Amino acid sequence: MCGIVGYVGKKHPKEFLINGLKKLEYRGYDSSGIALENEEETQIIKSVGKIVELEKKLQEEKSITATLGIGHTRWATHGEANEVNAHPHKVGRVTLVHNGIIENARELRKELEAKGVSLKSETDTEVACALINEYYEDNPIEAITKATKRLKGSYAFGILLEGKDKLYAIRKDSPLMIGYGEQENYIASDIAAMIQETNRYSLLKEGEIAVLDPNKVQVFYEEKEVEKEILESNLKEDSASKSGYEHFMLKEIMEEPTVLRNLISRYEDKDLPDLSQYDEIHIVACGSAMYVGLVGASLIEEKCKKKCYVECASEYRYKTVLYRPKTLVIVISQSGETADTIAAMRKAKENGVETLGIVNTETSTIARECDKTLLIGAGVEVAVATTKAYILQAALLSLIVMKTVKDEDALKEMKQIPILLQKILDEKEIFLDVAKSMYKAEDAFFIGRGIDYAMCLEGSLKLKEVSYIHSEAFQAGELKHGTISLIKKGVPVFAIITDPAIADKTESNVMEVKSRDAFIYTITNTEEIPNHGFRYIVPKTSSYFEPLLVVPTLQLIGYYTAKLRGLDIDKPRNLAKSVTVE
Ligand code: G6P
Repeated sequence: MCGIVGYVGKKHPKEFLINGLKKLEYRGYDSSGIALENEEETQIIKSVGKIVELEKKLQEEKSITATLGIGHTRWATHGEANEVNAHPHKVGRVTLVHNGIIENARELRKELEAKGVSLKSETDTEVACALINEYYEDNPIEAITKATKRLKGSYAFGILLEGKDKLYAIRKDSPLMIGYGEQENYIASDIAAMIQETNRYSLLKEGEIAVLDPNKVQVFYEEKEVEKEILESNLKEDSASKSGYEHFMLKEIMEEPTVLRNLISRYEDKDLPDLSQYDEIHIVACGSAMYVGLVGASLIEEKCKKKCYVECASEYRYKTVLYRPKTLVIVISQSGETADTIAAMRKAKENGVETLGIVNTETSTIARECDKTLLIGAGVEVAVATTKAYILQAALLSLIVMKTVKDEDALKEMKQIPILLQKILDEKEIFLDVAKSMYKAEDAFFIGRGIDYAMCLEGSLKLKEVSYIHSEAFQAGELKHGTISLIKKGVPVFAIITDPAIADKTESNVMEVKSRDAFIYTITNTEEIPNHGFRYIVPKTSSYFEPLLVVPTLQLIGYYTAKLRGLDIDKPRNLAKSVTVE
């Protein structure tokens, strides 16, 4: 989703801004732009499409001398992806980039237009920019404070004010951080954008205003200066490189055994939350993180005998939730910045309910605000479609369950899982062959029951998000209640069958679609399940671990299918890595 970078310092900002924006590309965007400023003028250059288009424009237009600049990647919300709507926006003496959504933009726009302010774009961002300009006489802090007090919604702003050789920033419900260099300072919405320059950073808290010049960073809260703690990031610059792989998605799948091993050694001897203490568990998340939740819930109910509800965060935040006296809300998020997941977490906290975060990004809002946070340590995940983070989230939930029920045998068995997974990944060409047999399909279906169905949901999502093949996952017994009418000759149907208790039942459903000439791909853990066309057998393990072996095969099928279709695998159309708007 949208990304922000900003620079003030001894160098020309252009290089940092472009490099920083490139590091944010993975988040998903459809236009970009930068603003450069010196004492006399502001230059804004914007472009639709990839950053390389912006770079081309920068080469064509001579950039002004500057030591101050802001940049932005935009993922369209208010108004289509075109140059007028792209950021930065400039109104009067204020130039601004924005992440988030201003919810009362429409009424503010009317108010501004009634005063004669003319706005060029359809964006909520330009409204915010105009509002700051309205309040700006000569006191930047006062103007930003007054304007932001009138805004509803979420924002991270990078701001330039004509005549001030400083960079200003403020945030609410959207991340923004400050980077500290030598005679140069930075802002960015994601540490990855500035890690090539500095690993020293601080997080801006809600409502704090940062004022940066080359030699000094000041932060104000309610117009009083506050001290900021400077933290050190251990993020590796090269963690955002493809290391010889053609795509980040494949690189990240191939990293799974290593990061899984790291996760096991990080947590095997640690105390983890004891789920037996709670009356009930709620898992809230979005996208793949919610599907991991379904895998976890299946284990929690089977092994801990605890009721566990899984809800997508965008529903949970608005619905009537009935909390039992001792409820634990588990919040799962790779980025830790998904707007709906943050809102769901805050709802639980407002209700006095305990929250546990399972998060990848240490500096994120969810990691900081949950009562307890467990980091999965996946490293940077660049491909929009999550892979290694899913596996680690599933593994961590399994570990919590194993520790709750004190399943020592499973804890021992878990150490073997990275080895078994490595063997599967070493055979990855098998899944290229699968993809070769179905990449021209228009539709695909995934069927399974129980925990197998939870895996189907992820397999189906992976396939559709990167290959654009229409795909649906069904509880195997449910398909015949309508959707089976879509099964015709050659339609790929993936059956996941790992749970012996219901294997025969799913197999009967496989026969139903086979009789209607579907092509059956089975992923199972036993020779006993017949091969109807393609069959891949993962090693048989206890139920905690089957998702860690099956889901990577589905990730590979999605990956290779998209590759054969010649698509932009790491940045699928319309998708964002971190969905920071609701
Ligand atoms: C986006 C990503 C998904 C991810 C979901 C939740 O839709 O494309 O891959 O599962 O957001 O993200 P989170 O960062 O909260 O795990």
